[in-house]
Amino acid sequence: MYLCTHLSSTIWPILFWVLNPPATTLPLLRDGVLLSNVIASQQVHKDFGGVVPELASRAHEQNIVPVVSEALRRAGVSASELSAIAFTRGPGLLGSLLVGTSFAKALSLSLDIPMVMVNHLQGHILAGFVRQEGVPVREPSFPYLCLLVSGGNSQIVKVSSPLEYEILGQTIDDAVGEAFDKCSKMLGLGYPGGPVIDRLAKLGDPERFHFAKPNIPGLDYSFSGIKTSLLYFVRDQMALDPNFLENNKEDLCASFQKTLIDILMGKLIRAAKESGIREITIGGGVSANSGLRARIVAEGEKRHWNTYLPEFKFTTDNAAMIAVAGWFQYKAGVRTPLDVAPVSRLSDF
Ligand code: KG4
Repeated sequence: MYLCTHLSSTIWPILFWVLNPPATTLPLLRDGVLLSNVIASQQVHKDFGGVVPELASRAHEQNIVPVVSEALRRAGVSASELSAIAFTRGPGLLGSLLVGTSFAKALSLSLDIPMVMVNHLQGHILAGFVRQEGVPVREPSFPYLCLLVSGGNSQIVKVSSPLEYEILGQTIDDAVGEAFDKCSKMLGLGYPGGPVIDRLAKLGDPERFHFAKPNIPGLDYSFSGIKTSLLYFVRDQMALDPNFLENNKEDLCASFQKTLIDILMGKLIRAAKESGIREITIGGGVSANSGLRARIVAEGEKRHWNTYLPEFKFTTDNAAMIAVAGWFQYKAGVRTPLDVAPVSRLSDF
């Protein structure tokens, strides 16, 4: 009994959807430290050029029990030693969330342990707190600002404690990840667009082309106009030179990426000035972008910020960040009732 409360292991059993490839992932924490992180990749989508929601949830269903067993085995922990289970309630693909939520309920009932629901975005915001054995800890102090940039969100969030968030600004239309993805498709570079644009941008001149930046009041963002601006620009140039795209894709990517980073950083700098907060972190898939990471570090040095960049593996969708977010709630005494249902959209939270 004593061992149980001391261990405080938190497991998070399922994934919304992880792009490229999706996977069933199960991190196991002891006292907030990652003990094991078993990942079962899903190969079923490879012939479809994207994630097929129904196949994802079926694969999660097949993988979940073996993955839990393997996570326990690798951590050297028995199921009876678990003291809580965390799970993602949403936002995400409903079928996958349903598998995770149902499994969490079953485990909670059968082991008589509490469960804790986590908002996917909360995970991104707290990704900097994933602790690994043998890895030195460097975590932001509260309050800090998190630039949360993914395929579905672009927000500046003030984080006052692991359980207190305030959205200072957010996109009024597309997310910045969507801008990367849609423009990559437009340039014929494939999906997801962020990694390929990032790679080509390193070879190009970011000052070669200029795209219009939106003029949005306050700390909000807009990314829908820039894709139209790129579309018209490329269309006009192609009319003059049919090889324009092929001959200029590195410069196009570099210039386009720089514009997105300028937009993101403009509002982040303003948020830091207005709030007086100098602890700055980033999260979400787009925070893997090498140009954005370099720029945050450079601005941080110039502006005397303390900047925290999560490891690459914790920037895109990952389960360890969900486990940590659940762990903070568990420690604070938050418990989720058994009649909870998953939600696919953020607005349904
Ligand atoms: O957080 P995330 O993994 O998933 C969801 O939004 O659900 O973010 C995915 C987004 C995609 O839009 C992808 O293009 C973008 O993150 N992304 C990047 C990079 N790696 C992934 N964007 C820019 N540069 C990257 N290196």
